[in-house]
Amino acid sequence: MVTSLKSSGDSDTHAQTGSSYNRKDELKAFDDTKAGVKGLVDAGLTKIPKIFIHDNLKLGKSGSAESNVTIPVIDLAGVRKEANLHSEIVNQVKNACQKWGFFQVINHGIPVSMLNKMIDGIRRFHEQDTEEKKKFYNRDYQTSKVLYNSNFDLYVAPAANWRDSLSCVMAPNPPDPEELPEVCRDIIFDYTRMAKELALTLFELIAEALGLSPNHLKDMSCVEGLFCVCHYYPACPEPESTMGTSNHADSSFLTLLLQDHIGGLQILHENQWVDVTPIPGGLVVNLGDMLQLISNDKFKSVNHRVLAKNVGPRISVACFFRPQFQTENSSRLYGPINELLSEENPVIYRETTTKEFMTHSFSIGLDGTSALDYFKL
Ligand code: OGA
Ligand code: NI
Repeated sequence: MVTSLKSSGDSDTHAQTGSSYNRKDELKAFDDTKAGVKGLVDAGLTKIPKIFIHDNLKLGKSGSAESNVTIPVIDLAGVRKEANLHSEIVNQVKNACQKWGFFQVINHGIPVSMLNKMIDGIRRFHEQDTEEKKKFYNRDYQTSKVLYNSNFDLYVAPAANWRDSLSCVMAPNPPDPEELPEVCRDIIFDYTRMAKELALTLFELIAEALGLSPNHLKDMSCVEGLFCVCHYYPACPEPESTMGTSNHADSSFLTLLLQDHIGGLQILHENQWVDVTPIPGGLVVNLGDMLQLISNDKFKSVNHRVLAKNVGPRISVACFFRPQFQTENSSRLYGPINELLSEENPVIYRETTTKEFMTHSFSIGLDGTSALDYFKL
């Protein structure tokens, strides 16, 4: 099946409507292999299939990142101990959330050994026998708690990404241990437990940075749901023609991202792509659309992407904090927080449920379009 996928070198290149290229069939053929992008690479592909080719991709000059700007790095050591230090950190968080929507944290309390173990566990999952992985292949995000697939938005996005992912709903109701792949079961439980603790601290800091009481966001159940997505970006033979992850903003309240040393993640800052350079032992934090909505644009969710590379694999783990489809809380209404509204800051968004928000975001897929516009009053 894999070899029947048209590669970029085929004669009808770019004739998207040509009779010999039926995109939907090609997507389905790829999906049916259940072997993901890793399966293509294992088959020795030297040209990437057409479904992965991004038209109008200008990864040349406009794709190269500004070298002299870096996203903020915030040291969380002592955050709960000293009042002075605490308010200094709140200030740094406020600045980062207003100006960047992205920052990195160090001394965050999760040991480096655990970060490394998580990356190793995810690598083991993706590099195990394809037949083992196939058992988890699934696209039913509404009902499944553990899913492995390639491109959650395969059938809606304009072009596919060079990436496979294992996704797990870890909170509020985690899967039974047997539901998780054995090769990374324990570490997923351990890592996500610590990620959730760190997220609690981050939501407290963000609440204070918004001028609210530390527990305000927690009390709105922003930290209740945790969706953990473990990405594997194989080395790509034609990295300039595709993307690891297309330009998008996250739909979560907050995302905590663990990335290995390979790099490739960039954020769109003042119309420039800026590299999020991996820091050993560090974690990346970014705000999602739901936080922008409840903060009434005080804090921004920022677009980002991952470049495909000819080195790899690259491994990353995104913990999305947001209510889950499966829980009763998915019908809870979220709108701009009253305390943040005034005559100068009139309400921008209507109230929505996370279920509606997520369904809308999923229907767009990753193509750089903001899901937020749809909720503007
Ligand atoms: C995401 C994402 C970045 C990465 O999963 O939403 O932006 O580095 N991931 O994998
Ligand atoms: Ni993202």
